Amino acid sequence: MISFGPRLSIFLMILLLMLSAATGAAKAENEGRGLFKNDCAECHTLNADEPAKRGPHLEGLFSRRYGAVEGFPYRMVWKKADPVWTVESLDDYLVIHGRYDDAERGILIRYLQDATRL
Ligand code: HEC
Repeated sequence: MISFGPRLSIFLMILLLMLSAATGAAKAENEGRGLFKNDCAECHTLNADEPAKRGPHLEGLFSRRYGAVEGFPYRMVWKKADPVWTVESLDDYLVIHGRYDDAERGILIRYLQDATRL
């Protein structure tokens, strides 16, 4: 058994922790991307300049008013107390759509926070 001095052991432990945190974040991002691709991308793009699909694009979602994509024929604008989409209101929206557990919603929302950022 190789024995490391206490300083080196601590250094290695910190390095391992950092590495596993980074892989965890990358894994969550991939999972989020996968959920979006499977369940949302059929109808939503992440960028305003991609060709429109059945639903409104989601660019800049987390600072947008509900139902605000110019020219999109909304049938039913989601109304909440906050004036704009937030993590909480998107979470409620996904709960109503009803197919994710708490962890999956968290992962999808975190992915969308990055992917829809202007
Ligand atoms: C079958 C097509 C379809 C799928 C799949 C779909 N959506 Fe939608 N979505 C729509 C349509 C259409 C609207 C506009 C509703 C209306 O007419 O008011 C919409 C509206 C929205 C809005 C409101 C946007 C705004 O401008 O206020 C959000 C947010 C949203 N969807 C997120 C999602 C997410 C996240 C997923 C994946 C979990 C998803 N949608 C899956 C069709 C879809």
